Amino acid sequence: MEVDISKTYDELSRKAANVIADVLNAKPNAVLGMATGSSPLGLYQELVRMHREEGLNFSQVTTFNLDEYVGLPVTHKQSYHYFMHENFFKHVNIPRENIHIPSGTTRNYRAFCEWYESRIKSCGGIDVQILGIGSDGHIAFNEPTSSLTSRTRLKTLARPTIEDNARFFDRVEDVPIYAITMGVGTILEAQTLVLVANGKNKADAVAKMIEGPVTSMITASALQMHSDARVFIDEPAAGRLQMREYYEWVQAKKPGAPAT
Ligand code: F6R
Repeated sequence: MEVDISKTYDELSRKAANVIADVLNAKPNAVLGMATGSSPLGLYQELVRMHREEGLNFSQVTTFNLDEYVGLPVTHKQSYHYFMHENFFKHVNIPRENIHIPSGTTRNYRAFCEWYESRIKSCGGIDVQILGIGSDGHIAFNEPTSSLTSRTRLKTLARPTIEDNARFFDRVEDVPIYAITMGVGTILEAQTLVLVANGKNKADAVAKMIEGPVTSMITASALQMHSDARVFIDEPAAGRLQMREYYEWVQAKKPGAPAT
């Protein structure tokens, strides 16, 4: 796992966006895995800036989102469909038919999940997956004790997640209890993982993800089993890392490292 600690949220967002831009420049028809929530907002803003000012081209890109709340129509302001449209898709040139977001309103969740998995495969798999981390250590909506081999499926959200996400709703009772989410196994199949996290309230989960045991209690710890997982965090989110000095040393020495 590569751990990159930035002074500010803007800096970590820029660095994470550069990874995505490098993938797109090398492979214009890349398949991107998208995340929602507050963590990747800066990354999306930077990609939009690169699209407008530097001509970063998304015209051949295909996307798959990690998750969606069950029961919210796509027009609901807290649905992840709405979030993605407002914060990213409407600002770049991804063909509409190339955008995939789990359905929160399908009549047959099992069939939809199977279709979603097979669609990822038929598009060639995900080249780079963007991730955030929940304060309980989840990735996507893979709550503690989710199988580390899980696939796209319906999940019941944990109470801490519902309470964390209540900030986006009028009342905590309005937060959906169920979600459809890619599994940990689905996520681990992406070629590259880019996880962004900022703020003190993520410090505990971040430390457990990077330095704790691999456990379904912290599903983000499964990133330790991936051969190209890159974690971009700010100083408050790095606050509980024991090996921080080493990560900073590695980053400082990176320019002089032999090319691989
Ligand atoms: C959202 C997702 C979640 C969030 C996590 C952190 O698509 O998959 O795992 O990344 O809950 O959310 P924020 O970034 O709002 O703190």
